[in-house]
Amino acid sequence: MRRGMTFDDVLLIPRRSAVLPNQVDVRTQLTSHIYLKIPIISAAMDTVTEAKMAIAMAVEGGVGVIHRYLNPEQQAEEVRKVKRFESGVIKDPFTLSADEPVWKALQLMRDKGISGVPIVSAEGRLEGLLTRRDLQFQTELDVAIAKVMTPREKLITAPANVDLEEAKKILYQHRIEKLPLVDKNFKLQGLITIKDIRRASEHPNACKDKRGRLVVGAAIGTALDLKREELLLEAEVDFLVVDTAHGHSEPVLEKIRILKKEFPKVDIIAGNVATSDGATDLVDVGADGVKVGIGPGAICTTRVVAGIGVPQLTAILDCAEALHDSGIPIIADGGMRTSGDIVKALAAGASSVMLGSLLASTEEAPGELYTLRGETYKTYRGMGSVTAMKEARDKERRYFWDEVKEPIAEGIEGRVKYRGKLDGVLHQLIGGLEHGMGYLGAPDLKSLREQSEFIEITAASVIESHPHDIQITREAPNYHFEDGI
Ligand code: XMP
Repeated sequence: MRRGMTFDDVLLIPRRSAVLPNQVDVRTQLTSHIYLKIPIISAAMDTVTEAKMAIAMAVEGGVGVIHRYLNPEQQAEEVRKVKRFESGVIKDPFTLSADEPVWKALQLMRDKGISGVPIVSAEGRLEGLLTRRDLQFQTELDVAIAKVMTPREKLITAPANVDLEEAKKILYQHRIEKLPLVDKNFKLQGLITIKDIRRASEHPNACKDKRGRLVVGAAIGTALDLKREELLLEAEVDFLVVDTAHGHSEPVLEKIRILKKEFPKVDIIAGNVATSDGATDLVDVGADGVKVGIGPGAICTTRVVAGIGVPQLTAILDCAEALHDSGIPIIADGGMRTSGDIVKALAAGASSVMLGSLLASTEEAPGELYTLRGETYKTYRGMGSVTAMKEARDKERRYFWDEVKEPIAEGIEGRVKYRGKLDGVLHQLIGGLEHGMGYLGAPDLKSLREQSEFIEITAASVIESHPHDIQITREAPNYHFEDGI
């Protein structure tokens, strides 16, 4: 019988170094064809990744995977929200017609989080623009938009092929926030907003596709009808993740074969596995990325309920060794509680890490935010928890569901302390990674993988590793009370 290791069982041995933390390069490969600026992916969970999180992740240089406990149309809509965002140019803006009531515009603005709507005729010709400014003093909500909008004659527009610099000049010169793009017949071709232009310049690190739109992935199951996949691809998702508890199974292998045949251009990540055989079998049928992790997650009970799993560090080491010659990247999924764990996962051979609990705590996660005895929390739950499965059962029958008996859950539901905005949390996680690379003399993630040496430690060393013989009176942004327990 072998011994399995996880993050707390080891440390990385420091090495002579000429590398300073602020000089390291943390860019990486997600799949055969997709690259990231930071090696972090937000988990495909209903309390972690919908459009808001995926947008924030891609803006910071990582990526999000939209969870699949949504019906296919809703999931595709979340993908579309990401693809529409921050391209500088919104190619396909939401529109309304002039005879619709004002309340409809307000509803659309609220639901889609937008601050202005181009008003178009049935033929798609621009007739006006309705912005928050136009609605500021409007108390009568049943009147037609035509009465309130800024009409076409008063609008500044630009041709569809205007470049971003030119658009910026026009916006500044006329002190306007939105610039509709039209063709010579005044048909609406797009919309440029000052907000998107500013954002684009604030985030040079954003992870973008060839057309300058944010990159996003979506989780799918093993259903063979491919309706979900078709809708996601129509929404121009960048990659698909066959998201299952047991990736080393016939339905998953079959699904990858079919996806590769039907959609040969789309990168497929598959998982989860925890063994070298599992990883190579997925690659043999065409996976472009392999996700590793059976039971390490903060909310997982698979190991307790089913007695199954491989300690996460050993799982990563085994899969990385098996896939070394194939060049297919590994994503370490679950079980990382600190930035140090991320350094260990990447040193063990993962090209990127997928995080649930560390990101569920941020503002951008969809989980509910609430206060209890002066502390602020967000809900975080396993996708195999009873409540998540119950909510999902009408949308997609992922698990066999018996209406009378309780389902066999492999996850629990809980809460994590609220940690504010995602960019602050990522700053700490990437900062920790950079420090680790400095200690190891690793200028990039490839060197981190190739040069690192682990040392196995004892339970006494774990105690020594954490703050000890002191009562902590103040939490650090990257060290919380629960990290030491
Ligand atoms: P962390 O530790 O980052 O883990 O919170 C997130 C990962 O956990 C997996 N996951 C589950 N595993 N039962 C499980 O055994 C569940 O209910 C469950 N929900 C999520 C998933 O791989 C995720 O990325």
